[in-house]
Amino acid sequence: MLALNNIGHLVTNDPSIGNGPLGIISNAGLVADDEGNIVWCGPQDQIDQYTEAQPIGCDGCAIIPGFVDSHTHIVFAGDRATEFEARMEGLPYAAGGIQSTMMATRAASDDLLASNAAHLAYEALCSGTTTLEVKSGYGLSVRDEERSMRIARSITTETTFLGAHLYPTDVDQEDYVDLVVGEMLNACLPHAKWIDVFCDRGAFDVDQSREILKAGAKAGLGTRIHANQLQRGGGVQLGVELGVASCDHCTHLTEKDIEALSSANKTTVATLLPAAELCTRSPFPHARHMIEQGVTVALATDCNPGSSYTTSMPFVMSLAVILMGMTPDQALWSSTQGGAQALRRTDVGNLCAGSRADLVVLDAPSHIHLAYRPGVNQTRAVVRGGKCVVGAL
Ligand code: NIG
Ligand code: FE
Repeated sequence: MLALNNIGHLVTNDPSIGNGPLGIISNAGLVADDEGNIVWCGPQDQIDQYTEAQPIGCDGCAIIPGFVDSHTHIVFAGDRATEFEARMEGLPYAAGGIQSTMMATRAASDDLLASNAAHLAYEALCSGTTTLEVKSGYGLSVRDEERSMRIARSITTETTFLGAHLYPTDVDQEDYVDLVVGEMLNACLPHAKWIDVFCDRGAFDVDQSREILKAGAKAGLGTRIHANQLQRGGGVQLGVELGVASCDHCTHLTEKDIEALSSANKTTVATLLPAAELCTRSPFPHARHMIEQGVTVALATDCNPGSSYTTSMPFVMSLAVILMGMTPDQALWSSTQGGAQALRRTDVGNLCAGSRADLVVLDAPSHIHLAYRPGVNQTRAVVRGGKCVVGAL
């Protein structure tokens, strides 16, 4: 049982119980049951009707739903600081850098990979991420993808098989697609919920991506795609054609791509990853325009050692507002409910009765401060499943 009151600003993401699109309640209370589910939230003077427990006071702080980071690659070894340094001196980002992380990952023990991934997952939790998607994709052999997926599964249920991240140089390209849709998929299936493919220049083309995603869907996995990160191409259109849960990156879009995403907005989310644009000095997609055209937009970190080595959703929100034209309300929604929709979850990303009691208590009076104070840790406490797991209440 968890009972909180004196919440100055509670973001529920349920417009039917609070003000505006974020369903904000001022001077709110919240009650969760012993199973970690929310029983009620509303005006604090009504809390006695829902609990006999003495509520914990929140000193007028803001509370938001825990962040749903729907795109990370945190199972890997080594780092690419030297590549980052060279890029900052002017070299362009290219898909091929994945190969160097693949070599370090293959050489690492299971224990090292697991402890690196757990460390990054904990770092994410400390900044308020209570639901985390984790991909494989730095093993690129049956053995190394299987163990990457096993390690991902020890961290989260939102696990994604990304054997189609890059061709390893030791296998012929067509043979590699056969391996991904055959033996590798079978080995990874017990640990996977999703399948993903990097459909872009230097990685997999549209036909190969279609074959891989269809094989995953046939095996019972949900589908998602890395699309239009490095250039305009057919990735987004393929994602919409196949009804994937999310087209991720969407850095280089045509108006036709935006129309396609808009027409599929109940099925397919566009997940934007502005930390990847920042760290690769790429142009930012115009998120506000996409939202105005009716696209459902999520935000995620893309945490990986090459293009975006951050676990911080508050930092991503700052970028989205300051550099991609999103309002603070849009950025908050996309980092919580948008991420949940990208993972086809309804039990997280909002604070409604029946949802998980996953929330962040901010050392701030409103969610606007998340974008307004870039890079500042404003997390006072993180609650997951009704239990305080970071900081103190
Ligand atoms: O999402 N685009 C493909 N994958 C990662 C980058 C991986 C890497 O550079 O190691 C991404 O940005
Ligand atoms: Fe990625």
